[in-house]
Amino acid sequence: MNAKLRRKHLLTAAVALAGALWPTTNRCLAADAAGAKRPITVGFSQIGAESGWRTAETKSIRSEAAKRRVNLKFSDAQQKQENQIKALGTFIAQRVDAIILAPVVEAGWEPILKQAKAAKIPVILVDRGVKVPDDSLYATLIASDFVAEGRMAGEWLAKKLGGKGNVVELQGTAGAAPAIDRKKGFEEALKNYPDLRITKSQTGEFTRAKGKEVMEAFLKAAQGSGTKINAVYAHNDDMALGAIQAIEEAGLKPASDIMVVSIDGIKPAFEAMIAGRLNCTVECNPLLGPAAFDAVEAALAGTSLPKKTIVKDQIFEQAAAKEVIGTRQY
Ligand code: AHR
Repeated sequence: MNAKLRRKHLLTAAVALAGALWPTTNRCLAADAAGAKRPITVGFSQIGAESGWRTAETKSIRSEAAKRRVNLKFSDAQQKQENQIKALGTFIAQRVDAIILAPVVEAGWEPILKQAKAAKIPVILVDRGVKVPDDSLYATLIASDFVAEGRMAGEWLAKKLGGKGNVVELQGTAGAAPAIDRKKGFEEALKNYPDLRITKSQTGEFTRAKGKEVMEAFLKAAQGSGTKINAVYAHNDDMALGAIQAIEEAGLKPASDIMVVSIDGIKPAFEAMIAGRLNCTVECNPLLGPAAFDAVEAALAGTSLPKKTIVKDQIFEQAAAKEVIGTRQY
């Protein structure tokens, strides 16, 4: 038996042994050049750890990879698109089987996605979308409908305020799909209420610290001009929790003096609702691991995928928080 054939037999035996030791269900395998099955390698480019939501998403992807015995290469971009582009370049050079990308902003992805396509590496987008002229540059997008989330928040608030009042808005990261779309959806809802206005709007970068800082500035400006703030609309719970702190430090009561509505549905938001500090949160589900790896497997098997899968979300009010908190998974 020649050396090449012996290597092939050894590899096949090793894979068979691995198969006997570990259950074959839930295992992602790919065939190598010699036709033998091997575990797959997936590169995951994550935005960072700016919020509780993001941490939950990372956990979901990591644990699903472990469950399916996928070799996961994880890269934290620390909020920078250039770091994500670099990470994707490295994954391509390493010839990973697939890439999972949570893109920080919508624009600027075409060149690197073209490189992935040329290398025949499918890219699965999770959570946020990209703007590219050719949607064959990615296999699929698994995400919430951010416009609908913003609309839900706007309609809820308009009803609670009787269609009147001044709202300050804490936007997410500039150029990010959820920041653009949640603003759009909220404004769409407010169109029906001409006496309900957004008086100030600024980015709080999806973080608690920045949300607090921007809210402090909004409160100061309102005091200076004698304008009342009736409500805060935050594009995520972390910024809302920062704003709540700023409101309390200014000697006001959040959720009663100033209403607070946000998006994500993380556990600390439910705790804040139970404590009477937050009025309402619109869920945005971060548990995308199972769907992301189903998509990876389908893409590698050559199965056609829908261009977008929308994750269903719902709205939670203060009154329901106590009953629901026990069921929250993130
Ligand atoms: O893209 C989803 C958003 O990003 C979440 O609402 C936010 O918390 C996160 O940082």
